[in-house]
Formats: sequence, structure tokens, C-alpha cells
Amino acid sequence: MKYIFLPILFSVIIMSSCQYSQTAEDKKIDFKVDSVMRLMTLDEEIGQMVLYSSDWDVTGPSLKKGYMDEIRKGNCGNIFNAHTAAFTHKLQKIAVEESRLHIPLLFGYDVIHGHKTIFPISLGESASWDMEAIEKSACVSAAEAAASGINWTFAPMCDISVEPRWGRVSEGAGEDPYLGSKIAAARVHGFQGKSLADTLTVLACVKHFAGYGAPLAGRDYNTVDMSERVFLDTYLPPYKAAIDAGAMSVMSSFNELNGIPASGSVYLLKDILRKHLHFKGFVVTDYTSINEMLNHGVVANEAEAGKMAAKAGVDMDMQGEVYYKYLKKQVESGEVPLQAVNEAVHRILKVKFLLGLFDDPYRYCNEAREKREVYSPAHLEASLDVAKKSMVLLKNSNNTLPLKKDEKIAVIGQLATSTRDLLGSWKAAGDWNFMKSVLDELKAYNGDANVTYAEGCKVQGDDRSGFATAISSARGASKIVYVLGESCEWSGEATSRTSINIPGVQTELLEKLKALNKPIVLVLMNGRPLDLSKESELADGILEAWFPGTMGGKAITQVLFGKYNPSGKLTMTFPRNLGQVPIYYYEKNTGRPNYLSNPKYKSRYIDCPNDPLYPFGFGLSYTTFAYSDIKLSGKELAEKGELKASVRVSNTGNVAGEEVVQCYVRDLVGSVTRPVKELKGFEKITLKMGESKVVTFTITPDMLAFHRADMSYGTEPGNYKLFIGTNSRDLKETNFRLN
Ligand code: NOJ
Repeated sequence: MKYIFLPILFSVIIMSSCQYSQTAEDKKIDFKVDSVMRLMTLDEEIGQMVLYSSDWDVTGPSLKKGYMDEIRKGNCGNIFNAHTAAFTHKLQKIAVEESRLHIPLLFGYDVIHGHKTIFPISLGESASWDMEAIEKSACVSAAEAAASGINWTFAPMCDISVEPRWGRVSEGAGEDPYLGSKIAAARVHGFQGKSLADTLTVLACVKHFAGYGAPLAGRDYNTVDMSERVFLDTYLPPYKAAIDAGAMSVMSSFNELNGIPASGSVYLLKDILRKHLHFKGFVVTDYTSINEMLNHGVVANEAEAGKMAAKAGVDMDMQGEVYYKYLKKQVESGEVPLQAVNEAVHRILKVKFLLGLFDDPYRYCNEAREKREVYSPAHLEASLDVAKKSMVLLKNSNNTLPLKKDEKIAVIGQLATSTRDLLGSWKAAGDWNFMKSVLDELKAYNGDANVTYAEGCKVQGDDRSGFATAISSARGASKIVYVLGESCEWSGEATSRTSINIPGVQTELLEKLKALNKPIVLVLMNGRPLDLSKESELADGILEAWFPGTMGGKAITQVLFGKYNPSGKLTMTFPRNLGQVPIYYYEKNTGRPNYLSNPKYKSRYIDCPNDPLYPFGFGLSYTTFAYSDIKLSGKELAEKGELKASVRVSNTGNVAGEEVVQCYVRDLVGSVTRPVKELKGFEKITLKMGESKVVTFTITPDMLAFHRADMSYGTEPGNYKLFIGTNSRDLKETNFRLN
């Protein structure tokens, strides 16, 4: 598959990708890097290509003992899973004062959705469709991490996924390449700020390169096999957007893509990453992924794995000790060209210079700054703001929500009292001990006397012994607020599931509570789309709260009581059942679409509708919005022209609210089959009660480009549909022609 398309592809993408030009500043840094490299032995060079975990946190299967000594000897130039200004200072001191060349360390950590102040999980944040809020979240996370000694985060994760069985969907931005690209760029801007030299920012790492979000059967680390067209049109754009936004490191993924493990793939790491995306930073592997090429079965031993990785363009070996053990001999014997090592070291040192580490290696280890930044009131406020914006109101029959102040509520569910779960997976240095739970916050707002609590059952397991107490405590209330979902341990890496139901006996308890004939509100905490078919029938209101972070309890309370009007929209389709998976809004029409009149011979299920329970882009508000007057500035789009597409949106309810107005297109006839819809724009607006606004999108031909039948990238003239509306299913429609 590798080369057929490349000549054409390169010529087209070279035009569309951000061009890298060497500035005078760049040349100056290159000169400095060269001057350091002239002093280095081969051992010391290889040491810069080595990354070890400290023993402060465990994020993978193995730990390297004696890493401090390796730093001292110059055999390890980079550390991850170490934090606090004091501890990183201690390690940096070893590198800078005890190693021969005094080269400072990079300190990496998984600061995914917060460092100490934790924001909602990334999938939750994506549901805000609010780029400013998402950038702010990354910016706050960077400021806290950078004050605690960290200068490199392993984020953003840019893996598109349509796989709710895969636990890591919680770490991404959902199913859509357009939205995913905007979010990837916002996160890089937030982490890296305007300059890597700013001590409030950290180096971003684009992961997991590439295609990691599409493991077969949703099982983590499993095989990825997809057409090149799908890879380039759907999976690549968010990685590209993050690189275009200036990210200077990329993590090669665990998975194979079409037969070649990513950490040994010349296609991914050279052809795509370097030539096609013009990436100038360095590539680090995921945790021991060089070693794992043995298990993949593309090499017979570790030494060969190292050779394959080095030749493919992997610059840094995370935790594998493969470069450490074998690279020197391989360079000396000529099996691996010295130039490969020189280039890798040059890239790594360049980033260290850009971070200012050669000017002041301790600039990120500042205890006074750490005290000031960590959990600052402004950071907690930002976390609260993003948490509220992330929540998605999935159902609200008879205006069950918002709750009224002082109404008697019965709170049920183990998750209502858990602070640990509020943080979700990858909690970094987040501490749940000082946090307030959902129950604490509900009581604080509504008064102890108006809130009863009973656990009812655990999140997992089949213990029903608490049912009776929960039912009797709910009897005296006017409404039931049941906090349920998944435990945070069921989300993130290595947490694939074969069922996407709400675990344990939580739904069974819901059935029992239903018999009380009282309005029931579900507050969901989870990291993936769940099958809510049963729950959506039983409950009157459903609020998808994800794992909302440090301020999650307060955010949920404010939304439930209408202090904040929910505005989040799903970024992954919620299916009716697991049998519909993979299900996503940008599907193809097929030769026998479901709308054909023949009742049998068409693309459908005999036991379930085709459409999902909650489509991509879906989310309700405490007010209602009406869409009218969809208009286009013309019916013909010229090759270099543009069209303005507009719609009037009116707030027809009783309170002010925010709405994410979404614009999709459909290319009706292509040289290859085209999706039934593709998101091409969105705008989040605020409307007062009774207010209307006209929202306008600009449509240009480059937005309509794709990989055509011959794999060249570009547009094709023809007829298009254009849709604008409140989610990917409920849309107004018009059409135009691209000339
Ligand atoms: C493995 C995970 O896949 C990756 O996302 C993470 O950054 C590394 N471990 C380091 O913890």
C-alpha cells in the first residue's frame, strides 16, 4: 500500500500542510546543538535517546531499577513519571552536576486532563465544543505541571475512535475528524502556549501515532487494519492538526497498522510523519513498544526490534532499554547508520534548547511557584467552568430538570459519594482526598434536611442488599437523583469491555425505583458511550456528566439546579445496543440503503433500527431552539470562490441558553463513495430568552477535498447537500454545486 499514492499525495499535501521554514533563530539553535554534539561520545548520544520511568508513578508493565545511576552515567537523558519541584530538582541535579556533559533532563508525565487541578476527561471536554475552554484547560494543566518540574506532557491524544468497547475513547475527542482536529490544535496551543521557553508551558506530544483508536473488536493494543483512504481522510487529520499547531513531539503507538507495528513503520514515521506532515520534532515510542515488536512477530529478537525502530525513525525509546542495550554495537557494526543516531539526538537536544533547559535546567522546579499555581482559585474556577460546559443533557421529560431549590431529593448510588471516581482515568497528580463529592455539594446547595442518601448498590457486583433501604429512602422524596455509571478504573488504558451496559445491578435498582412512580433523574459518570436503551425508558431526566474532575460535584449540582443551563453535545454516537457498533454519523449510503421501499433486501437489522439512541452532536438544554431560514449566498461554488451558508436560530424557551449550531455537507456523487454527512463547521452561541441570531458558515472548496479514486487529494465538481442544525440527525437542508 505504501508507495502507490505517495508522489501524487506529497505534491498535494505539501501545498496544504504548514510549511516549515528554517528561521534565523532555528539556525542559531542548530548551531548550539551541534556544538554540544561535538563533545558527545556515542554512549552519551544514545543516552539522550533513552527515557526511563521513575518509581513515583506506574503507567506500564515494568520499571527500570537504578535509573538515578543511569542518569549520572549519561545513559539516560529523559525521565517520566516524576513530579513535584523538589523531586525533579533532585534528579535534574544529578544530570546537571554529576553527569560528564551536564545535559539537563526532560521530564515527561501524562498530564492528560489536568495535573493537580483535574478537568473533565478529554471525551467530556470535547462535548463542550468550546475551543477556548479546551485550550484553557490545557493551559492551566501546563501551568501546574510546569511548576511541579514537568516540561513535557504525553498529550494530546488525537486518536479518532468509533469503538465504545475501547476504554481509551475517554482520552480522545470522539469520532469526528473535523472536530477532533480543532480540539487537537486547541490542546497543543494550550499546552505549549506561544513559546516553549515560557516556564508556564510544557512540550506537547501527539499520540498515539497512528490509528491506535481503531483496534479490532475494541480490544486495547489489538490489530488495526484499515484502508489507506480511511486512514488518510478520517484518522490522520487530528494528528496533522496537532503538528501544524506546533507540537514538537510525537508518540509512536502500540498497534500495528496494516501489518507493520507503528514503532517500526517507515511508512508512518518517515513517509507520513516527516515527508507528508513535515514534522520537525522528535518521536518517542509508547511504553516498551520497541520490545513488543517481538510479540507482534516482525522481528526475532530485541536487537532486531531496536534496529527496525532506529531505521524507521524512532528517536527515543520509552522504558524498553533496547537502544540502551543494542544500539551502540549496531552503529559500530554499520547495521544502523550513525546518521540516524545523530539526527535523533539533534532533534531531542533542540527541544531541550527550545524549552530553555540549557539556560536554566531548574526553571521548571520552583517550589514557590508550585505552591502558587497548584489548586489556585483561578484554576479551580476554570475546572468548574469546563466541567459544566462538558455535561450533556440526554433526556428531560416534563421538565423534570432543573431541580427546584429546597425540593426534597433522594440521592442514590455509590458514585454519589466517591471523590476518586470524579477524577476519571489519568488523574496525574490529582488528589481526591480534599474534594467534595456529588452528595456533599447537593447537600451544601439544597440543605441537609432536603437531601437523603442511600447507596443502594455498588457500581460493580451483584449485591442487592442495599436495595430496600434505597427504596424506602426514596419514598419520602419528591424526586430521585441516581448517580450511576462506570467506575473510573473501567476507563482509560487496558479497560476494554465486551458489554457497554451499565455494570452490576445498578439498572436493576433503577427498575425497582421506577415502581415508586416518582420522577427519576440519572446522573451518569462514565468514559465511553453506553447502551442506555433501558435507562432512557425508565428515567425522566438523564445528565451525562462523564468523569468531571476536581470540581465535578459542584458542577453537577449547578447543572441539576439550573444555575448553569447545559449546552454539551455528544462527540461520539450512543448506540441502541452493542450490536450496532461501529456506528458513527459519517457512514456511507451503501447500495441498498435502509430508506428503500423493499421491506427486506436492504442494509438494516431485523431486530433493531439502524439509527442510534443518541446521535453525534446531540444534547438538550433547559430551553428550546428553533432553526429557520436556511440560506446560501449562491447555488454555485467556484474553484476559488466561497459561499455563505446561514440559518436563523431562535431561543423559544423560557431561559437563556447556549447552542452549538452544526454545519454538515454531503458530496452526492464522487469518484469514490462519500459519507452521508461530514461536519464542516460549528459555532457555539448564547441566546437570551426570545432572542434570535443568524449564524453564518463560510464554505470553500478546500473544505470539500478528499482522497479521490486515484488517491490524489482534492475536490471533484458536482452537487452537494448542505445541512445546518442542532445535531447530526435533526437538520435543515439546502444544496449547491461545486464547479
Ligand atoms: C502507555 C500509554 O499508551 C501512553 O498513552 C502513555 O503516555 C504512556 N504509557 C506513558 O505513561
